[in-house]
Amino acid sequence: MDKLVIEGGVSLKGAVSVSGAKNAVLPLLAACLLTNERCRIKNVPNLRDVNTMVKILRSLGACLEFSNGEVMVEAAKLRNLAADYKLVSTMRASFCVLGPLLGRFRKAKVSLPGGCIIGVRPVDLHLKGLRALGAKIDIQGGYVVTEARELRGAGIYLGGVFGSSVLATDNVMMAAVLAKGKTVIESAACEPEVVDLANFLNKMGAKIRGQGTPSIEIEGVRHLHGTDYQIIPDRIEAGTLLLACAITKGDCFIKGAFKEHLSAVLDKLWESGVRIEDADGGLRVARPRKNLKPVNITTLPYPGFPTDMQAQVMALMSVTPGISVITEKIYPDRFMHVAELNRMGARIMREGPHAIVQGVRGLSGAPVMASDLRASAALVLAGLAAKGRTEVSRIYHLDRGYENLELKLQKLGARIWREKE
Ligand code: EPZ
Repeated sequence: MDKLVIEGGVSLKGAVSVSGAKNAVLPLLAACLLTNERCRIKNVPNLRDVNTMVKILRSLGACLEFSNGEVMVEAAKLRNLAADYKLVSTMRASFCVLGPLLGRFRKAKVSLPGGCIIGVRPVDLHLKGLRALGAKIDIQGGYVVTEARELRGAGIYLGGVFGSSVLATDNVMMAAVLAKGKTVIESAACEPEVVDLANFLNKMGAKIRGQGTPSIEIEGVRHLHGTDYQIIPDRIEAGTLLLACAITKGDCFIKGAFKEHLSAVLDKLWESGVRIEDADGGLRVARPRKNLKPVNITTLPYPGFPTDMQAQVMALMSVTPGISVITEKIYPDRFMHVAELNRMGARIMREGPHAIVQGVRGLSGAPVMASDLRASAALVLAGLAAKGRTEVSRIYHLDRGYENLELKLQKLGARIWREKE
């Protein structure tokens, strides 16, 4: 296993480019199952999760080539319609092959994804939506086994106790595009990655309207054709790089960061005193030398503050004098990073879905352990700001969702490198 070693205290400066969005490319790869024609997806980041999804599609019998940021997918003939537990359990997003398999072949067998360290991760909304389209669904031996004589459009309310669901919206949309008649998804997820999927499906010949709003309309069609598509930049990587600059009092240009995808994050950074400007093709972030102000944050479905930025902003608030309260409304247990940040000298108290952060003057480097993707990113940010050396172990978590993060940070002047554990 690898670890990242960081000698903190350098103010980051310079320009760096954002890679393609992990949470866009994963459902888009699954959507390629909806046609027997070739699809080419561009701006694909080389991530563990992307390689896992490539393996899953290959295990179904699809042909894929992945090189130089492009994936070519051809799912003309599939040898089976079953996505195996061993692969699905390593990455929850693989559950979104269910919708396209059902949509095109009217049957599928996909392992339940199981939970992960940030929460139970139920799939009740996915199954509710597919049943509404006419699918018969059984749970057998940890697998969702489903088939449908035909799929008919329906009105579906997909809101759950935690609000909308990104991948449930994706799964239902991908099953509905080849159904007979019109489907309306109410309380649909509005994330930019859902919009990217809908735009990709429309390029394949689907008829989807309302993507990006809580009400998405899908007019079923008989056939989808292959297409080329370039995915959007990764807004969570962009936000993480912005925070890397802010926490080190730096001055950076984050190329490819879309302001409109980060409104809630930029709003909170601005409130705290970080200066961010729209520069051509990206965002410039300059952190004044003076102290930032503490801010209170509650994570919500898009366009609210993203849960995937919660750990990273907690790292920034841990060195911002004053009290910040961070409330996690999407995954109330998503606080594995608190104990590790406290080991670096942070003063954070967990109270149910709240974390009360008392900003300290500075953190000190320490050996820490990554537990999940975004917690790992928070520990890297803390290490960049800390005095002394930080070693982040188990960074295979980080490699799931960040492409060469340490190389990007090195480019901005950070003293960070990868070593074998
Ligand atoms: C997507 O996961 C993202 N993953 C997550 O990013 C992200 O944190 C999450 O959306 C929320 O924005 C991908 O897109 C691959 P949800 P998803 O269904 O779709 C509950 C990262 O770090 N829920 O929107 O699985 C669920 O428990 C990852 O890149 C149900 O109750 O999340 C959660 O509390 C982590 N029933 C809330 O909804 C369901 O059937 C939102 O989850 C489905 C979800």
